[in-house]
Amino acid sequence: MKIDLSGVLYAQLKDAEKKYNNAKANNDIENVKKFARVCANTEKQLAEKVPDQRKAHLDKAARWDLIVKTAGTAPRKAMVEKGEKSGDAEEDFSSFGESLIQTSTVTWKDIGGLAEIKSLIMETVVIAGLSKPESIKPDKGILLFGPPGTGKTLLAAAAAGSLKATFFNVKISSVLSKYFGESTKLITALYESARGHAPSIVFIDELDSITMSRDGDQGEASRKVLATLLAELDGFQDKKSDKLILTLSATNTPWSLDDAVLSRFPKRIYIPLPDKKACQEIIKIHTNPLDISQVNMETIGEQCVTRNYSGRDLQNVCRDAMKSMTRRVNKDIFDNIENMAELTFEELQKKTLKAGPLNMEDFTQAIARIKSPLTPGDLKRQEDWNKQFGAS
Ligand SMILES: Nc1ncnc2c1ncn2[C@@H]1O[C@H](COP(=O)(O)OP(=O)(O)O)[C@@H](O)[C@H]1O
Ligand SMILES: [Mg+2]
Repeated sequence: MKIDLSGVLYAQLKDAEKKYNNAKANNDIENVKKFARVCANTEKQLAEKVPDQRKAHLDKAARWDLIVKTAGTAPRKAMVEKGEKSGDAEEDFSSFGESLIQTSTVTWKDIGGLAEIKSLIMETVVIAGLSKPESIKPDKGILLFGPPGTGKTLLAAAAAGSLKATFFNVKISSVLSKYFGESTKLITALYESARGHAPSIVFIDELDSITMSRDGDQGEASRKVLATLLAELDGFQDKKSDKLILTLSATNTPWSLDDAVLSRFPKRIYIPLPDKKACQEIIKIHTNPLDISQVNMETIGEQCVTRNYSGRDLQNVCRDAMKSMTRRVNKDIFDNIENMAELTFEELQKKTLKAGPLNMEDFTQAIARIKSPLTPGDLKRQEDWNKQFGAS
């Protein structure tokens, strides 16, 4: 079985980027579009092949897609989308929302554990999507909170992926820092795009950074952004509209949110660390399609819970275990690495890395290496907040 195609794709990407830059330098719009399209497609393939860089590759793919769309027609817009300031006093922000669009291919099946939470979000999404009498007011926003790496982003992406909705992925901190002073226009532009591309899921990550930075100059911007965001959320609540725009927001530090924010998110769902069964499911997802029948999943599941692993930690364990397996199964290559390193890219491409079954040793070694960054105090704080303010 061939397990790594990413090398070829990176080479292809580099080549296409070079050709794109040449075309751009020559003002050759047709080839600009052509190679931007190749870059977009290659980034999408890389997103599939290199799961740990998935988000970064999808972001880049979205930017290339935008260049394909706008090349030749609105050069200034393309600059804003790439995050560069054009220097014009009157900036055009209409394209900002578009630049946050991500392609989500995540489905509910890609998420291990969290069964109840998945159904809760599914329910909200379905109610929001169904045609309904005016008297039934759907939720417009949900707050997801809990320790980092537990699948909050993943849940939002799955909601968008399953609905085939447009997925806007917004990090508040980057809105605040990058576009200092213009942030409120960006929020307005974001929701305009969301309306234009409905059904839309707007995912607002790091919601806490709005509240955290309310002092000083940055504080002024934060307050305005917050006011605009809340107005957008309120607006949707009241306006009679059959367009589906659902705002999911996430924070790792819910205690830093203030009442104004909390009151807009009556649904506040705790995303906890995975229990034993969930750990096992997550490991299965992240080792698929490899053979794990030699691994004692009872023991591994227990160890993962004891070590306070998040979904992200489990993903790292799987990746580490797969590396050990790759070295074991391809001894001929790894014992010979210095000679292999002399080969050209073309020669390397002719050889194939094999994949074999994962064993217990692969996992116990990986578990010994990977430590959760969480302390018992961190977890208690989350659980206490959930008891007091969590609501579904
Ligand atoms: N429940 C889960 N099932 C499968 N993978 C998970 C789960 N939770 C986390 N992961 C893995 O960890 C990564 C980080 O999760 P993410 O959703 O970004 O966490 P958060 O947004 O809560 O910080 C995901 O991309 C995924 O690979
Ligand atoms: Mg996240």
